Amino acid sequence: MTRYLPYGDMEKLLSLSKRRGFVFQSSEVYGGLSSTWDYGPLGVELKRNVKEAWWKSVVVSREDVVGLDAAILMQRQVWEASGHLENFSDPLVECKNCHIRLREDQMQTEICPMEPSKNPEECSGELTDPMNFNLMFKTFQGPVEETASEIFLRPETAQGIFVNFNNVLNSSRKKLPFGIAQIGKSFRNEITPGNFTFRTREFEQMEIEFFVTPGDDDEWLQSWLKERYDWYLKYGIREDNLRIRKHDDSELAHYAKETYDIEYRFPWGWGELEGIANRTDFDLKQHAQTSGTDISYFDEATKSRFVPYVIEPSGGVDRATLAFWLDAYDEEPDGDSSRTVLKFHRLLAPVTVAILPLSKNEKLAPLTKGILDRLKFKFKCQYDDSQSIGRRYRRQDEIGTPFCVTIDFDSLEDDKVTIRERDSMHQSRIPISDLVSVLEDKLEHNW
Ligand code: GAP
Repeated sequence: MTRYLPYGDMEKLLSLSKRRGFVFQSSEVYGGLSSTWDYGPLGVELKRNVKEAWWKSVVVSREDVVGLDAAILMQRQVWEASGHLENFSDPLVECKNCHIRLREDQMQTEICPMEPSKNPEECSGELTDPMNFNLMFKTFQGPVEETASEIFLRPETAQGIFVNFNNVLNSSRKKLPFGIAQIGKSFRNEITPGNFTFRTREFEQMEIEFFVTPGDDDEWLQSWLKERYDWYLKYGIREDNLRIRKHDDSELAHYAKETYDIEYRFPWGWGELEGIANRTDFDLKQHAQTSGTDISYFDEATKSRFVPYVIEPSGGVDRATLAFWLDAYDEEPDGDSSRTVLKFHRLLAPVTVAILPLSKNEKLAPLTKGILDRLKFKFKCQYDDSQSIGRRYRRQDEIGTPFCVTIDFDSLEDDKVTIRERDSMHQSRIPISDLVSVLEDKLEHNW
């Protein structure tokens, strides 16, 4: 069945987000900073789980990928060599009437903020000719604000990987094909950020630069495309809401030979989650030439030296987090009423196990505390003892907790507790001594 959150229902997610502590507006007490967001107690756990699932899938479980955590600030020459200083820009136009600045290549979908019902081209205001607006944030290193000390906040994490190619190759002794993976913040001074956390000026990327022998690149591009598409399905995105789109020649970035986007059906339409690009040997050659350093690979088998080609799966952490969240949102009939439930994949849910004593009666306290102490180092737990058990189950459904463990007065006699599963709402009673192994088993296997 096709199901996705309609645009109107985005309000429901935003209200849940604020009420339950997923995402807050940045600097809210001062009126907020537009299109900038802070992850609250539940949001930060969800986002960490997304990053952890990615890292496990592309680094921990593979012998041909290693990790890196490069600095955000880099030498100015990095951006000259990569082409970002010259090419990393969007076409900007300004309305001569209301002085709003917009992206010329997205005029069909832009809404004029001064005339909310109108597309800017329908407005009476004349637009200026487009000019290239560089998206990199500029700042100064050290106390002197002069051109020589000008540096940039990185607009992609990728360049930190390219300039470390020799370091990683020499220290890890990897042979082609191999990749370097990194998660980190990137910054782009987007002309029109928006759609909640989808397009922001500060965001997190999860990128792999996978180095291959030239000639093997087309095959590796297809292999990574499949691997990354399957990852989104594995962690819960419905197939109907996911698609692959190939870039046409006019869309290709200055470094790319071929690129595919993995797109999600957001409430406002299809949007990019991740790009899988064939960057050829462009970046390594550029850095070799600009720095005067030999950046190449010696192949023992063929006794030849060459510059590897690069396949780059480049995803956004915030966009993936938002997509998993939107796709998990559901409202189900439940008796005479309905329940809101976030059907997160069990490994992405911000809270894995809720510990719920039936009442606040102090007789239950020692046993409940003992169970919490036993579980809290193995699973992400949340303790809740306020209001009726039914309302507490609803609260846990609303934040997507896969398991609730209920301790009642019988538990004091029979050393058993009730496990309630989120999706089926099925309840079973199990011995407390089996609790850890039963939960581990349920988490490991598709339940
Ligand atoms: N290194 C290649 C690169 O940066 P990109 O398509 O510009 O490619 C990769 O960015 C991913 O980063 C996108 O697929 C998207 O998920 C995320 N991303 C890019 N710009 C973003 C923004 N302004 N806000 C949130 N995420 C963004």
